[in-house]
Amino acid sequence: MPASDYRTSHCYWEGSFWVFGSLRFLAPLFAEMAEHGFRYSQDVVWEKQNGTGFNNDRFRRVHEHAVLFYRGPWAEVYHAPQVTNDARARVVRKKEKPAHWHGATGSTTYVSEDGGPRLMRSVMQVRNEHGRAIHPTQKPLELLLPLIRYSCPAGGVVLDPFAGSGSTGAAAAIEGRTAILIEKDESIARRAMQRLDQEAPLLRGIA
Ligand SMILES: C[S@@+](CC[C@H](N)C(=O)[O-])C[C@H]1O[C@@H](n2cnc3c(N)ncnc32)[C@H](O)[C@@H]1O
Repeated sequence: MPASDYRTSHCYWEGSFWVFGSLRFLAPLFAEMAEHGFRYSQDVVWEKQNGTGFNNDRFRRVHEHAVLFYRGPWAEVYHAPQVTNDARARVVRKKEKPAHWHGATGSTTYVSEDGGPRLMRSVMQVRNEHGRAIHPTQKPLELLLPLIRYSCPAGGVVLDPFAGSGSTGAAAAIEGRTAILIEKDESIARRAMQRLDQEAPLLRGIA
């Protein structure tokens, strides 16, 4: 669809979504996303404890990207900055916004006490699920929880059209969001449902 026509499409919606993958997969996606009116917002790096090395002539790959694309005015797209309560003692920062920051200048001063909140870092060190996963690329809950809180309001609906192990459903249930999961592999879908029965038995509705 030409970029100028996306707004007239019957399936047009505004919002955001996360896409996981390597840059090899993600880089070509940017142009296609732009064609449909989706813009890059930010990316998070998931650093794993161990990676997959397909090529022994390169660095051992121990990370994956999660890119947030959005459509519509950013101010109207739900996003809730996440914090961790691990700021160091008496951190007082005065930050000048860089000149390229929407042309704005000025300063923001904030105080953080020992153990107080600070913005969550964009590199997340989370162990992968190798050895205990029901799916080869199962995402750990610890990784998904902040992404869901960031981009979906409490009580909102999370859609995962490539559900695999159902991790998104489990994470959504923990965070009080509803999840719609789609998985084409029937046996994996069954295992995901069994998993959700065990991890979130009162929260799952089967369609
Ligand atoms: C990378 S895995 C997702 C893993 C998932 N994030 C997790 O945490 O377990 C992709 C999944 O999407 C499924 N899939 C691929 N194409 C699909 C399609 N067209 N419709 C529904 N599911 C699809 C595959 O069977 C596979 O289980």
